[in-house]
Amino acid sequence: MMTYPHNSIALRLSGMFTLVALVVFLLIGGALYQQVDKGLGLLPEAELEARYSVLESALNRFGTPEHWVKINAKLKLLGEEDKRIRFWVVSGDPGYEYGQPDAAIRAFAQGPLGMHDLQLPDHPYPLKVLLTELPAKDQRPPLRFMIGIDTETFHETQHNLLIALIGLAIVGVLMASALGYWVARIGLKPLIKLSHEAQRLAPPLRAGRLRLSPLPPELAQFVDSFNSTLERVEQAYSRLESFNADVAHELRSPLTNLIGQTQVALTRGRSAEHYFEVLQSNLEELERLRSIINDMLFLASADQGNKATKLTSTSLADEVATTLEYLDFILEDAQVEVQVSGDALVQIEVAHLRRALINLLSNAVQHTGPGQVIEVRIEVEAHQVSIGVANPGSPIASEHLPRLFERFYRVDASRSNSGNNHGLGLAIVKAIALMHGGDVFVRSDRGMNTFGIYLPV
Ligand SMILES: Nc1ncnc2c1ncn2[C@@H]1O[C@H](COP(=O)(O)OP(=O)(O)O)[C@@H](O)[C@H]1O
Ligand SMILES: [Mg+2]
Repeated sequence: MMTYPHNSIALRLSGMFTLVALVVFLLIGGALYQQVDKGLGLLPEAELEARYSVLESALNRFGTPEHWVKINAKLKLLGEEDKRIRFWVVSGDPGYEYGQPDAAIRAFAQGPLGMHDLQLPDHPYPLKVLLTELPAKDQRPPLRFMIGIDTETFHETQHNLLIALIGLAIVGVLMASALGYWVARIGLKPLIKLSHEAQRLAPPLRAGRLRLSPLPPELAQFVDSFNSTLERVEQAYSRLESFNADVAHELRSPLTNLIGQTQVALTRGRSAEHYFEVLQSNLEELERLRSIINDMLFLASADQGNKATKLTSTSLADEVATTLEYLDFILEDAQVEVQVSGDALVQIEVAHLRRALINLLSNAVQHTGPGQVIEVRIEVEAHQVSIGVANPGSPIASEHLPRLFERFYRVDASRSNSGNNHGLGLAIVKAIALMHGGDVFVRSDRGMNTFGIYLPV
């Protein structure tokens, strides 16, 4: 048995799990990253506000140079305590300045008040800066006060978070695909068990059915249809077997007759008339054999799906009349009369139709007593034409009706009168109907037995 690894259901499921995990991690990770990033972005500003609020009152309270020395020392101390923090004080008066502001800082300090980003030349990341103005107080002029914080640590945190999220996502996706494969293998166990069981079903299939228990509902329908296929195969198989047995039976009696007659003739010298009679009788048996074999060949070709091809537009009443002429002597012998009613034009292969009519009519003659009447009715219906051959006769039990068109099926299983009848007549009628896209029917009511065919118009 060929297996295609890339087609494996377990692999495909685990691939889908991986895809789902990837999408979920991307969505959750992206949302998480955005939220944390927003929070991180606010942190420097909050820290600046907090630090400024501690300093603000001291800055506003004092205006003398002595106090400014103290404030400068305080700012210096704070800057040394936390290297991320920088202070600048800009004013016209060098006595009230701090942080050695260069031209760029001075220009920045004259800009609008509030929170800003300030890129210093020696820093990889911008500083977050809070710019405020202090009004003049005592001897000191108005000041511009700047407090800045280095955002490098925040950027580092952000970067680390991104790496951690990507790492987690990769590990998560890998785990989802491995676990997915494992879970899929477990989930598919019933399927594997089922295929093992199917392998155990070896011909001749007798009573062999898939029996999985417990049966998962997803597989119930499959098991059902598989089992009914097995059932049909089994039936076809047993029909084939009994067909073979029937064929052997049918062939045996003419052969036995042939051999018996020939042996008797050979026991001693016979007159020419005697040999003539034996040959005559042998010829009849041989013709019987040929007719059985012809019928079987015809059925075999119909089985292979051969359809009627040489269709000609034909009047059914005309065909029935021709067939009756052909059966003239038989009808006379049996002393039965045939009445034909109705007519229709159909597309039909004439030789086939005639063969079907002969089979139907000769059956009817065989089952009709002397002096009685056989009725042939041709009726046009909506989408089809029916030809029914009805003869008076004892009712046929309903259990036989659907099976009469089967090969070798007879109501009287003893094969009486098997001289001329080998049980394939109605099977051939049915094959001919099917070859024309039609069907057969049989009815047994009010003392009349009707056998017939439907043909499409
Ligand atoms: N007109 C009929 N009336 C009653 N029974 C019939 C009639 N035609 C066919 N049958 C039944 O159907 C069986 C099958 O018919 P057929 O296939 O022609 O085989 P055969 O005539 O060789 O027995 C017959 O054995 C008979 O039991
Ligand atoms: Mg017959």
